[in-house]
Amino acid sequence: MNILITGANRGIGYALLQEALKRGHLVIAATRKPEMIKIDNNRVSVYFLDLLDKDSIEKFVETLSVEVDALINNAGVLYKDSFENLEYDYFLNTFKVNTLGPLFLSQRLYKSGKLKSGGKIINISSILGSIALLGGTTSYSYSVSKAALNMVTKLLSSKLKDIKVISVHPGWVKTDMGGKEAPVMPEESAKGIMDIIENVEESGVFLDYTGKSLPW
Ligand SMILES: NC(=O)c1ccc[n+]([C@@H]2O[C@H](COP(=O)([O-])OP(=O)(O)OC[C@H]3O[C@@H](n4cnc5c(N)ncnc54)[C@H](OP(=O)(O)O)[C@@H]3O)[C@@H](O)[C@H]2O)c1
Repeated sequence: MNILITGANRGIGYALLQEALKRGHLVIAATRKPEMIKIDNNRVSVYFLDLLDKDSIEKFVETLSVEVDALINNAGVLYKDSFENLEYDYFLNTFKVNTLGPLFLSQRLYKSGKLKSGGKIINISSILGSIALLGGTTSYSYSVSKAALNMVTKLLSSKLKDIKVISVHPGWVKTDMGGKEAPVMPEESAKGIMDIIENVEESGVFLDYTGKSLPW
């Protein structure tokens, strides 16, 4: 498969890149920091993409010279805000990266014909975006953006009949975002996510990295 991964320079995105290569896939690594990806492998191509900037999304899709079988919308941000301490601009930035980025990138790729018919869109969501499981949150902006991303998954899955679109919670993962206390290593999460991507049958579902179904 040709697998496009956003935020491929570190954390879960970088682990996904390595796992995809191990399994023989071709990787299109999209990142704001191409210089961080120092892998010498002719199955990886590195592209600049800043999801805060709509023009960057347009330019990226225009420049892309290969077709995509699976788009992993992995890049994300988390600002630790709360009801007492809401920051308007942080909220907007979170929404741009976590929600609008995946939606616009998916739509532009599909419209350009560069996302193959029969392809897949994997939105890396979070259990913190589950309305049904609401049990506290570390961040208002993050939870709202991931709940909205789940709606993006549902809307695209009902619109794009030739594409499988799913939301995946990667687990609580030891990365800059997840922190040192997190119990799941990025490699373990990436393995689970790649298993799901290779075997996905149903569109419009919300799963965790072990394949367990989650409530919206
Ligand atoms: N870690 C967890 O426990 C956990 C749990 C649930 C869900 N998730 C989700 O899993 C995904 C990956 O998280 P992670 O833990 O790997 O986080 P991370 O270590 O903080 O990495 C975030 C990635 O997103 C990229 N990114 C941020 N803003 C961007 C922008 N404007 N344009 C392009 N790329 C941008 C970062 O690139 P830069 O280096 O350029 O900033 C980085 O590659 C996120 O969607 C996150 O919400 C993580």
